[in-house]
Amino acid sequence: MNKNLCKKLEEIIRVNHAGELGAKVIYDGQIIALKLKKDHETVELVKHMKKQEDAHFNYFDAEMKKQKIRPTIMQPIWKIGGFTLGFLTALIDKKAAMVCTTAVEETIDEHYQNQLKTLAAEEKFLEQKQQNEIQELKQKIVKFRDEELEHRDIGYKHHAADFKAFTPLSLFIKTTTKFAIALSKKF
Ligand SMILES: [Fe+2]
Ligand SMILES: [Fe+2]
Repeated sequence: MNKNLCKKLEEIIRVNHAGELGAKVIYDGQIIALKLKKDHETVELVKHMKKQEDAHFNYFDAEMKKQKIRPTIMQPIWKIGGFTLGFLTALIDKKAAMVCTTAVEETIDEHYQNQLKTLAAEEKFLEQKQQNEIQELKQKIVKFRDEELEHRDIGYKHHAADFKAFTPLSLFIKTTTKFAIALSKKF
């Protein structure tokens, strides 16, 4: 595998590992705030999404260890930032928590789609064994992306768009998420 592609794959694993960790801690924060508010119905809803994020994270975590890729140095900041974002949005309003989900998942959808395009463009030039490796990664990303879209739909179904500050909050979260993605790739 050429050096350029190796570097790209490393970045993909690192940034996805960081993103899935972010998603996990956002939902952790939301679950704690929702429990404080005794909103058990929403707790169950968020727990369902959190369980899928755990599986996404575990895959990239295992790949990272297997391929000896270092995690982003930003990890401690994403942990605190993600948890705070989840906790505060859920504390403000259940609908704000749902805006957090729709904004994050829409950004991740775009991010995963870009990665799938990159991988499809690269794999043509590879040997069979390496093509198989890329295929496996692509299949995982497709599956995870489907689940992120399911989370986005849950957010809208539970009235994210009815939150009065939907537009500014959504824009803020999307911008922050994109910024976190860019930093996690390189650092
Ligand atoms: Fe995820
Ligand atoms: Fe998700």
